[in-house]
Amino acid sequence: MNPKQGTMMRHLYIVVIWFDVISGLDVKPQKERYLPDYSKYHNLSAIEKELQSIANRNLNYVKLDFSSFTSRQRRSQLFIHLSNFTGRNFNQISSYQETPRLKVLLSYGEHAREFLPIESMLHLVKNLTSGLSYHSGTPQELFSRKVLSNIDLYIISMANPDGRKHLEVTHNYCWRGTSTGVDLDRNFDWEFAGKGSSSNQNDEEYRGPEAFSEPETNVFTGLANRIKFDLFISFHSGIKHIYIPFSDTKSKISKRNPPNFENMLDLASILSHSTQYVYKYGHSYDLSGYTADGTIFDYMAGVKKVPFSFAVELWGTNHNGPSCFDLFNPKSEDLHEVVKTIHPMYAKLFSYLIEWKEAKIRHLSDPLSDAPSLTFGYVLLGCIVIITVITALHGRYPICNRLYQRRRIVSLKSLSSTFTMYTK
Ligand SMILES: *[C@@H]1O[C@H](CO)[C@@H](O)[C@H](O)[C@H]1NC(C)=O
Ligand SMILES: *[C@@H]1O[C@H](CO)[C@@H](O)[C@H](O)[C@H]1NC(C)=O
Ligand SMILES: *[C@@H]1O[C@H](CO)[C@@H](O)[C@H](O)[C@H]1NC(C)=O
Ligand SMILES: [Zn+2]
Repeated sequence: MNPKQGTMMRHLYIVVIWFDVISGLDVKPQKERYLPDYSKYHNLSAIEKELQSIANRNLNYVKLDFSSFTSRQRRSQLFIHLSNFTGRNFNQISSYQETPRLKVLLSYGEHAREFLPIESMLHLVKNLTSGLSYHSGTPQELFSRKVLSNIDLYIISMANPDGRKHLEVTHNYCWRGTSTGVDLDRNFDWEFAGKGSSSNQNDEEYRGPEAFSEPETNVFTGLANRIKFDLFISFHSGIKHIYIPFSDTKSKISKRNPPNFENMLDLASILSHSTQYVYKYGHSYDLSGYTADGTIFDYMAGVKKVPFSFAVELWGTNHNGPSCFDLFNPKSEDLHEVVKTIHPMYAKLFSYLIEWKEAKIRHLSDPLSDAPSLTFGYVLLGCIVIITVITALHGRYPICNRLYQRRRIVSLKSLSSTFTMYTK
């Protein structure tokens, strides 16, 4: 091969790679290194059954609504609501009443191939409900009591059930989208159709024909329209990252911050070292090498003004090659350990929110109790002095006697004498 042929081959090679990238090669099935063992991982029907049996055993604490929110192919998005419902007037979603409890919305299963976050959700729900049967005062019971009496926990357990079904039937463990191949997490009305998404139906980041084209988005908008959430998290896997909004291309250019950015950063830093794993955290547009337009957590922060909104990538290891299942999910035999390792993140999250809310309520009911600043103290003192002086002057030169009042020159000396006289 002469040098010229070598250059040609190289160019051809680059063109082939480039073509693979733009044609969305990674949605196609790949040779997998390992596959899920369904006696450890839950399949779609096992997830539903598990949630049903937990709810049946905890009628006062877990409510299922498996019919209000469904996919394009009419599969349930497995929406559940956890709280202490004892003595609460609860019938159906339309009668959710405003309570002083924190409103938290967690979303799982937006991307079909990411099994792990859903297993983490099941672990959380089992943890909260099983704590209820421990003796009162034990750490398990106290934790469940604290969470369920302070928080209305809303969980979209399976945001994209059609995608998950497609994956299970075809054994294409690279499948990410909905039944029509749309990436649900690019289909929202926040910078929709920006560069951080694709108009190509074969691309794994295909955004769909228009914002909210996918019926699967209804659960998010429907809930966010009715309930004023304090926090939203969209859970994913593939790497250990905690993303703060925004992730879109325009925000990256303008360095845009969401409302409540400082608090979000504070909570993200706490979550980043809440487990034995180390999570990187920061603006999504800085942390991940690419931008993402039309995402759910950007929408919740930017449009719905949810004070805390994150995307959390729960797990990932060093990975190369085109295989998919191992990129997003641990081996079946490691699953339980991984899920247990992640779990303390929820405890830190809930504690932080409960304290944040309590501080807010304290501040509202008694603004002075929250360590008044020195400046405020001086301003207050100044006001008292001025009022005292005016009252004193008034006493000596009543307002009706304007002639005398005008003649008086108010020097510092006379002010102090007036003050002394008045107090005597
Ligand atoms: C799902 O997994 C269970 C075992 O947990 C199995 O009995 C069932 O047949 C599976 N369902 C499908 C549709 O694969
Ligand atoms: C649930 O998780 C919390 C936080 O990690 C823990 O303190 C508690 O003991 C767990 N409860 C049960 C029943 O395992
Ligand atoms: C749930 O609420 C009821 C009624 O307020 C209360 O008696 C019960 O102790 C609560 N349960 C838990 C676990 O907090
Ligand atoms: Zn994902």
